Amino acid sequence: MKIAVIGGAGYIGSHTIIELYKAGHSVVAVDNLVNSCDESLRRVAEIIGQPVPFIKADARDAAAMDKIFKENHFDACIHFAGLKAVGESVAKPLEYYENNMNATFVLLNAMRNNGCKNFIFSSSATVYGNPAEIPITEKCPKGAITNPYGQTKSMLEQVLIDVQKAAPEWNVVLLRYFNPIGAHPSGRIGEDPNGIPNNLMPYITQTAVGIRKELGVFGNDYDTPDGTGVRDYIHVCDLASGHVSALKAIENKCGLAIYNLGTGHGYSVLDVVHAFEKVNGIKVPYSIKPRRAGDIATCYCNPEKAYKELGWKAQFGIEEMCRDAWNWQKNNPNGYRKG
Ligand code: NAD
Ligand code: UD1
Repeated sequence: MKIAVIGGAGYIGSHTIIELYKAGHSVVAVDNLVNSCDESLRRVAEIIGQPVPFIKADARDAAAMDKIFKENHFDACIHFAGLKAVGESVAKPLEYYENNMNATFVLLNAMRNNGCKNFIFSSSATVYGNPAEIPITEKCPKGAITNPYGQTKSMLEQVLIDVQKAAPEWNVVLLRYFNPIGAHPSGRIGEDPNGIPNNLMPYITQTAVGIRKELGVFGNDYDTPDGTGVRDYIHVCDLASGHVSALKAIENKCGLAIYNLGTGHGYSVLDVVHAFEKVNGIKVPYSIKPRRAGDIATCYCNPEKAYKELGWKAQFGIEEMCRDAWNWQKNNPNGYRKG
């Protein structure tokens, strides 16, 4: 299939492009580079041995999106483009609602105007709020969301459900990602956060490489085995291959489909720190800090539905995630931009 990969220069998009090529698909990456740089795509090209067609454009630009969809006759669109920093979304709600909602509206219109009816959306486990069941199945009701970023995911899921209901010939796949970490095993592409990382793994790798002094562990008094928060970490390459599997759902005319993409295993913050130290032979200094506002104790999924219906399941374990995250960080101590 020919796939529009919107937000393709970002962390998950760049890894997904590799898996799409491996599966025989062709892509055009579109990105405004607000949270990435095209160096990621140059490195993807190096890995796959061919150039990655790239158009620098804002997904909110209706004329640009219409032109791109008119000229390319895409079979499907994978939509990664969005702002994703939870804390920043609390401080800048308007910017988050405006970017994430409008980008999706404009894309859907461009698709409708040009006959592309297959859409894969990057949603998040955040839509479950403090989950009503563990492990979380797709039947778990959505929960109370405490930040604008998460609201955009939940609201856009509803928009997409309504769009598909009104046009049943559309195939819409909502992928609820758990916690993607790690990097391509080549060490050439990976996660390149701006400024001080909010998420656990980039904070660990930046501490290990000496950019940060120590990791703050946000709370050790949760109702979990060691008191620290438990999450379902998934290797970004597994997450990427989940998108290739989602295309199979589209080929099978799934209509609306929702899948959790996680491993089904919960690891605590200290489990991750210890796994990282063991597999990489490097110490990660840490100290216990107060809980972070908005955090929940435990979040991991039941990934059976994606396995039963798509044959997809995660292949990599926590040690490979830690190994590849470190391989990326140590080879690119300052990410893409500075060497
Ligand atoms: P990322 O920031 O690395 O990638 C998103 C890309 O979208 C960036 O390259 C950015 O420049 C681009 N972008 C943003 N707004 C745009 C616009 N208006 N027009 C064109 N391009 C635009 O983030 P990521 O980690 O690769 O996440 C991809 C998607 O998955 C996002 O929608 C994110 O919310 C979602 N998601 C991510 C995680 C995670 O932990 N990384 C978890 C759940 C869901
Ligand atoms: C966060 C977001 C969530 C988003 C997800 C993926 C919040 C409240 N939630 O989820 O909406 O979908 O990222 O981008 O921000 N931790 C530390 N020290 C750190 C960083 C994290 O102890 O410096 C802990 C956290 O308390 C948590 C775990 O590590 O228990 C994972 O945190 P993080 O990587 O930020 O992911 P989530 O909180 O699951």
